[in-house]
Amino acid sequence: MRLSVREFEALARDRLPRYAYDFFAGGADDEVTLRANENAFTRLSLVPRVLRGHRERDLGTTLLGARIAVPVVLSPTAFHRLAHPEGERATARAAAAAGTVMIASMASTVPVGDIAKAGGDDLVLWLQIYVQPDARITRELVGRAEDAGCRALVVTVDSPVFGRRERDHRNGFHDLPPGMYCENMRDLGGQRGVRDIEMVAGLSWDHVDELAAMTGLPIVLKGLMHPADAVTAVAHGVSGLVVSNHGGRQLDTAAATIDVLAGVASAVGVPVLVDGGIRRGTDVVKALALGAAAVGIGRPVLWGLAARGGEGVSEVLALLREEIDRALALTGCASVHEVTSDLVREARC
Ligand code: FNR
Repeated sequence: MRLSVREFEALARDRLPRYAYDFFAGGADDEVTLRANENAFTRLSLVPRVLRGHRERDLGTTLLGARIAVPVVLSPTAFHRLAHPEGERATARAAAAAGTVMIASMASTVPVGDIAKAGGDDLVLWLQIYVQPDARITRELVGRAEDAGCRALVVTVDSPVFGRRERDHRNGFHDLPPGMYCENMRDLGGQRGVRDIEMVAGLSWDHVDELAAMTGLPIVLKGLMHPADAVTAVAHGVSGLVVSNHGGRQLDTAAATIDVLAGVASAVGVPVLVDGGIRRGTDVVKALALGAAAVGIGRPVLWGLAARGGEGVSEVLALLREEIDRALALTGCASVHEVTSDLVREARC
């Protein structure tokens, strides 16, 4: 029996080829931000309330109109078939069973329509996209998300260029192995075959407006860190934000996400999610206290998937669920909505 999310990383490391483990685990440059995301949680302490007489806890909440059973969503991560042959299909089944949102990556190795089918009617599916230089390609991707029944588009805005991941360079990992492709990029723009995902160096608010004009789906921006950008985002009509530094894979030495969360959350009225370094139920409670509507997990899902396929993802989600429930009980909260900012403080150490 595995007792913590971190144990799954060790299992995954044993099972995966080196290049795949490093692709999942790694970050940009010196990996300062990668480490900072996790470490920042240890600098925050909880200040529990007692004697409140709650027998049970309700872990559920609502995100963009969808009821979810736990305040933990699956952040988008690329290439799930590198972790397990069933890839995103297995992830989707686990997300549906746990009653939470899966944000499928545009760089998924199963097409978004097939991810939706695998998850079934219970899955709340959102698609993450990178705006493409050719607006027609972006529009086709949006159409694929709509056809698959996705309920939101998550636009990643922290990647005008690719971060430099030294582990991938060292391992010579530049392409997927034979037989694996970014399936959402297949047969787009009247061309047969799989297109490369491109970054838009001049990414701007105009692209957000253009995208909003293409779809009736709610738009969530992922990869914001600065409160001023959050305010502008809301002025452009976005429905939600994900405070994220891409798990330390883009700008190295960017702040830990939990350290900037409160500034963003207090600046806007839309739901704010946060991801980066969340490995324990207490991390989730700290994020809720600092204003998050829910959190996202990236690598923990990949570790579960690599260790035991969909079952492994389910185990990771169940572990976090149990830890959140216990942390709520021990902080005197009957629901995620009772987690207030006075329950967390900077640790003096
Ligand atoms: C990512 N992330 C990511 N984000 C995104 O918007 N589109 C993507 O395709 C990917 N791909 C991706 C691959 C891998 C291997 C990782 C580890 C991450 C970033 C992801 O959504 C999320 O922001 C971080 O993973 C959160 O940090 P933790 O939970 O991994 O610490």
